[in-house]
Amino acid sequence: MPRILIKPQTTRFVEHLNKEIVVSAEDLIYVTDESKDFGTRHGIIKKEELAKADGSVVVSNKGVEFVMITPSFIDQYERMKRLPQTIPLKDIGWILAKTGVGSESIIVDAGTGSGALALTLSRHVKKVVSYDIEDEHIAVAKENAKNLGIGNIEIKKGDVTTGISEHGVDLVTYDLPNPWEGLDSAHKTLRVGGFLVSYSPTIPQTMDFVNAVLKRPEFLALDVVEIIERPWEIAGRKVRPVSKEIVHSGFLTLVRKIR
Ligand SMILES: C[S@@+](CC[C@H](N)C(=O)[O-])C[C@H]1O[C@@H](n2cnc3c(N)ncnc32)[C@H](O)[C@@H]1O
Repeated sequence: MPRILIKPQTTRFVEHLNKEIVVSAEDLIYVTDESKDFGTRHGIIKKEELAKADGSVVVSNKGVEFVMITPSFIDQYERMKRLPQTIPLKDIGWILAKTGVGSESIIVDAGTGSGALALTLSRHVKKVVSYDIEDEHIAVAKENAKNLGIGNIEIKKGDVTTGISEHGVDLVTYDLPNPWEGLDSAHKTLRVGGFLVSYSPTIPQTMDFVNAVLKRPEFLALDVVEIIERPWEIAGRKVRPVSKEIVHSGFLTLVRKIR
């Protein structure tokens, strides 16, 4: 069973600066094998320490203290192998909330990429079938599924613009360079009332997709959104947005099959 060692951040008041400064940043160390002593840059943690209960304080041979917990899905998800351009969690949360998929839902997803979207969705639904055209991407996503212990996902090789084998599905998710070319397949695979969500990093792709949807009376184009996450820093009475750029991820378009 893997473990996570957390060395909390420490600060010190510096008189001539008249403020607290961070002398050691918070450190999260992932231990994959707790059956052996584990070396960190703060010293060695004995395997007997790693066998302690969650929330225990463990001490290295250099006297550095850590709090220990067992990793959950999200800790393992953050460490999974990533190809470029995965969908961030803020956007995945919106897809789950707006489409209302749940424990009985079947989803078809394309392209799989590293599986960030497909694997997160599969935690919440009955089954996800995910398609990609690249063998290398399929292999990475399958390895990620295995490492995360996810069994209700089927990862297939296939070009969704030429066809999808599944029928009566509740949600189709596209993260494709040309999602408008997948409208016929999405229509055939979705049940009436089912949703199609397309994720595109650029507005020209989003425009082409929405304009193609608007030509088809069998679909309703419901929403085009960009989800902006704005982190805040709270340190005593210093409370302000974290001073870094707001990073753009992509535009989400929600479509519904109505006939
Ligand atoms: C940006 S990545 C998807 C990332 C993925 N949503 C994630 O969260 O990890 C786009 C993927 O679409 C695949 N792809 C492109 N065209 C496709 C098509 N017509 N059918 C299936 N997959 C396709 C690419 O090989 C690539 O892996």
